[in-house]
This record gives sequence, C-alpha cells and structure tokens, in this order.
Amino acid sequence: MIQPEKRLEILSKIPDREYSDIWDTCCDHGKLGYKLIREFPNALIHFNDIVPHIVEKLNTKLYNVPNERYTLNTLDARDIKVSNDNTLIYICGIGGKMAIEIVNDLVNGNSHDFELILCTHYHQYELRESLRELNFQLIKSDLIVHQGQQYETIYISKTRGSEIPKYSEELFNKDCEKRISYFQKSMNHYKKNSEYSQISKEIYAYYKVLLS
Ligand SMILES: C[S@@+](CC[C@H](N)C(=O)[O-])C[C@H]1O[C@@H](n2cnc3c(N)ncnc32)[C@H](O)[C@@H]1O
Repeated sequence: MIQPEKRLEILSKIPDREYSDIWDTCCDHGKLGYKLIREFPNALIHFNDIVPHIVEKLNTKLYNVPNERYTLNTLDARDIKVSNDNTLIYICGIGGKMAIEIVNDLVNGNSHDFELILCTHYHQYELRESLRELNFQLIKSDLIVHQGQQYETIYISKTRGSEIPKYSEELFNKDCEKRISYFQKSMNHYKKNSEYSQISKEIYAYYKVLLS
C-alpha cells in the first residue's frame, strides 16, 4: 500500500514548469509544502490552513527553513489572493464538493490567472463539470490510492492543456487492476443512484461500456 509520504512525493513532482509562488492550501501537517520547498528552490511556498493552531505548529516544524522561503497563512482557502499569474495552488486531501466551492471562490476573487493541482476524493464528476464550466483545461491527471482512499489528481490551467474529460475516462487502463477496481467501484455507485438520477444513469451506462 502506498504510504502518505509517497502520495505527497508524487504530488510534489507533478508540476512541469517553474512558478514564482506555490500555495499548499488545506496544508494540515505541512508535509507537502515542505517537499515543495526542496523541489522548487526558486519559488515562495505559501502554507495555508483554516485552523490557527495547525498553522502555529508549522512555525516550529519549519525551524530549519530560511524565513524568506515561505509564508504562513491562517485563512479560508476560498479567500486566498494571488499576487501574479505565475502561481500554482495545491488543494489536496479534501472531498470534491469542498474543492468545487474553494476553486469557484478563488476564481471569482482573483484577477490573476493561476494553475491548480487538485487531489480529491468523491464527487469527481461534479468537480470536473464545475472546472469545465470555469474553462479550465487538463495538463495531466493520475489516480492515487492511499490508505484505502482513491484520489483523482488533476493538474489544470486556463491557458494550456486539453479539454477535461467528463467521466475521468483518461484514467482508465484495462491492463491496470488498480484502475479497473476504481472504475468498478464508481460504476457500482452510479448504478445504485441511476434509479433516481438521469446523470447517474448516463455515467453508469458509460462505465458499463468502458469496463465491458
Ligand atoms: C485531511 S487534511 C489534508 C492535508 C493535506 N493537504 C494532505 O493532502 O495530506 C485537510 C485540511 O484542510 C483544512 N481545511 C478544511 N477546510 C479548509 C478551508 N476552507 N481552507 C483552508 N483549510 C481548510 C483542515 O483544517 C485540514 O487541516
């Protein structure tokens, strides 16, 4: 089974370019941001969590990191203001529904563009619909399974990439057991709901064909 550190290691290596500012929002333990400090020596890393004592603790944890390499921010991720277009924002380890709210508010509250890496569980269809409506495009995606939790990871931008697939179908691989199991689980979920919702019916039909 993939260890927490391994998931964060994968996340820290996703960016394919340099940024001047990188936000680790909903940072909790701060381990992702800590890895980003090492991975991106030219970027300013912004740690953010909504819980004050979490952010206070980070002060101690980062004792060996020069102050000019990072900022600590106790605020709702929805209220983050980015200072330039050369910014990447990570939103990881939360549910898809909360990610939808945070990304919508970030887009509405900022005049600068920014790129995003989301690593979320549940409500992937709704999340992708929302990102498509906001005109985000997909740079790359992955499926990470960590402590029994399945996370879709998507790296997105408004200025580059390709259309975000609606049903996460780019993640399917008929030769990979992990991915087949992910899509089977999703298919069963939509099958259960297909009696009550047209969209669930459509997604169920799509996955049935994909897995056949
Ligand atoms: C499960 S932890 C995720 C930690 C880390 N990002 C990871 O992927 O391992 C979720 C964190 O999100 C924080 N959080 C929840 N809602 C938030 C919001 N609106 N703005 C900022 N932080 C938030 C919580 O306080 C908690 O520390």
